[in-house]
Amino acid sequence: MSAQLPERILIVDDEPDIAVILKLHLGDSGYSTDWAGDGDTAWNMLNGNSYALALVDVRMPGMSGIDLLKRVEEAGLETAVIIMTAHGSEDLAVECIKSGAFDYFTKPFSLDDLLQRLERALSIRRTMREKKKLEQEKEDFFFMLSHDLKNPITAVVGSIDIIREGRLGPVNQEQKEYLESAIDSCSEIVSMIDNMLDLRRFESGMMPISLRPCEPADIIASAVKNFIRAIEHDGISLTLDVAEEMPVIAVDRFVMGRVLTNLLANAVKFTPEGGAIEVSCRCVDNGGANGVRIPVYVQPSAGIACRTCFVKLSVKDSGNGIPTEDLGRVFDRYIQSANATIREKGGAGLGLAFCRQAVNSFNGTIWAESPPEGGSEFIILLPCYPPDRIRCPDCMGGTAV
Ligand SMILES: Nc1ncnc2c1ncn2[C@@H]1O[C@H](COP(=O)(O)OP(=O)(O)O)[C@@H](O)[C@H]1O
Ligand SMILES: [Mg+2]
Repeated sequence: MSAQLPERILIVDDEPDIAVILKLHLGDSGYSTDWAGDGDTAWNMLNGNSYALALVDVRMPGMSGIDLLKRVEEAGLETAVIIMTAHGSEDLAVECIKSGAFDYFTKPFSLDDLLQRLERALSIRRTMREKKKLEQEKEDFFFMLSHDLKNPITAVVGSIDIIREGRLGPVNQEQKEYLESAIDSCSEIVSMIDNMLDLRRFESGMMPISLRPCEPADIIASAVKNFIRAIEHDGISLTLDVAEEMPVIAVDRFVMGRVLTNLLANAVKFTPEGGAIEVSCRCVDNGGANGVRIPVYVQPSAGIACRTCFVKLSVKDSGNGIPTEDLGRVFDRYIQSANATIREKGGAGLGLAFCRQAVNSFNGTIWAESPPEGGSEFIILLPCYPPDRIRCPDCMGGTAV
């Protein structure tokens, strides 16, 4: 038994003789017990949530043991329920287990057996409570991240920006560069927090995604805009190759913008001074002359095969590239490839995991390639909108367009 708070047990049985025997035995084994002679009395006693375990007889006048068990479950009480049935009522006992009972035993019972089952149920309950507590702590941590940490950083960025713009007095070029570097570092932290929170939202199915027809060129232009300063600072050339007359894509504009921001941030991070980044976007078809080849290490999203028209978006750089064995792994959480200088580059390994979840939620597919001539290329394939006429139930997921 736990050495902390005494775990109280409620015996629920309309037969006083059995209740007395149980009380005596459990008392001898160091347990603190109370007795309720019917279901209603038991429910009133249990409602305060102060019992670790209830030993409940199934057949009682008034509220039955099963009804009591169901009430405990519905109310989300943490009391573990062990059901006592008469010999030959095993089917009933199985029904109780299905309704949430921890265990059952049949009368007459051996004391050793009863104590063993009781200790096991209490131990499971302790583990479950511990898990719940950890979940709650995790929840609190994420809440802290999103509010208590992110908001002050955003305020810091705003203040630095005011100084940088010279609104509080003249700022020389060197000071300006230091302030810009401070802003970039803060933005990186905010972006890591956003990636972490959104990954969690995706995984718990709580990510608000609103698919709307969007022009790919618009999303690219607004994402690229935010990198002009960093690119100029590092002497990196940026080429935009966006086809005219592009079909629209059905994406969440804000989330898609963040996908591109992550890819561009990586490209800038892993491209040395004087290198080159190329962003391209064109329409491709599935298997046609303008076809697209998805590498074998990529798991295309459900339904991609039945589409015929895609927008292919690519962010290519002339950096270190990604070792072949890591191409399929870099989209996993916390995976940072072994490319040289990674330690100095920082990061948390969450950006690409977020990108994959986001692109999947648009019914698209994302993957990385590292061509033999060097550098990395991140490719996103998104179905054109309106969807192809051959409608496949797999690819019609997502919120209404
Ligand atoms: N453009 C790139 N060039 C080389 N390696 C890259 C590139 N983009 C991503 N990677 C590799 O993938 C890993 C995961 O990227 P990401 O999920 O964005 O995390 P982070 O940027 O926080 O490291 C990076 O640490 C790096 O090893
Ligand atoms: Mg990144």
